[in-house]
Amino acid sequence: MSNDYLSEMFGLSGKVALVAGASSGIGAAFAVALAKAGADVVLGARRTDRIEALAAQITEETGRKALAVALDVTDAGTVKAAFDSAEATLGTPTVVCNNAGIAVPNWALDDSEDDWDRTMNTNLKGMWRVGTEAARRMLAAGKPGSILNTASILGLGNAPQQLTYATSKAGVVQMSKAMALEWQRHGIRVNALCPGYFVTEINDVFLETDLGQKMLRRSPAKRAGKLEELIPAMLMFASSASSFTTGTALPVDGAHSVAIA
Ligand code: NAI
Repeated sequence: MSNDYLSEMFGLSGKVALVAGASSGIGAAFAVALAKAGADVVLGARRTDRIEALAAQITEETGRKALAVALDVTDAGTVKAAFDSAEATLGTPTVVCNNAGIAVPNWALDDSEDDWDRTMNTNLKGMWRVGTEAARRMLAAGKPGSILNTASILGLGNAPQQLTYATSKAGVVQMSKAMALEWQRHGIRVNALCPGYFVTEINDVFLETDLGQKMLRRSPAKRAGKLEELIPAMLMFASSASSFTTGTALPVDGAHSVAIA
């Protein structure tokens, strides 16, 4: 199997990719991987100091163009502005990793209206804002593309203290399917990626606790995933390797989501 064979299938040369929530964790790893696969990348996040530093690092390490844009997925104006900057500087993003998310863990009866609203506004409505804007831009440019929404295994199953998070991620799974169904005729594919536990800023404190450690030990793989173990699935969805794959929700979780005990 030659490298040409693989890069023709999975390579992203000539593509512009946008990552929402690129300042840390999974989004930052995705941005680096997309550039390594040949794409120019747009990094969107609120913490612009971090994405500016990451954009410089990406260009230095891969030679690809990288643009940092201020993006708050709860603010439709910044979503539009981020796509405006992307299109003016690099071109229309046709690979979009819709990845910004927060977790507000709480026992169900302790969730406040604000906890519910913040979680839904970022995790579900935020992905809707970015996903619909991405599709509008692709349609206007007459270009097909791929949108990958980062859901979670908590969008498929459930766990204690995750009412708002799991509900938002289940919504992301359904939203991805609805988008896939409507946009197939435009050549825009939409899939949901459902990671198990990966140590990032969203959960590092929890995973260090006794409860977090116990949960990982009881999982089939008995460990958290490594970020590099999430990259191949992302590249498959981003590239033409998955040209007939849309409307799916793929767990990458060491079988965590299928365990019943
Ligand atoms: P993280 O906390 O490092 O990354 C979340 C990113 O979203 C950060 O860059 C954060 O700044 C950004 N973000 C949050 N609110 C935003 C807003 N209003 N506008 C723009 N950006 C915003 O954590 P991680 O793990 O990298 O999370 C990435 C995605 O993966 C999230 O959607 C999360 O729910 C999901 N996920 C993470 C898992 C894990 O075990 N780490 C498991 C399953 C899903």
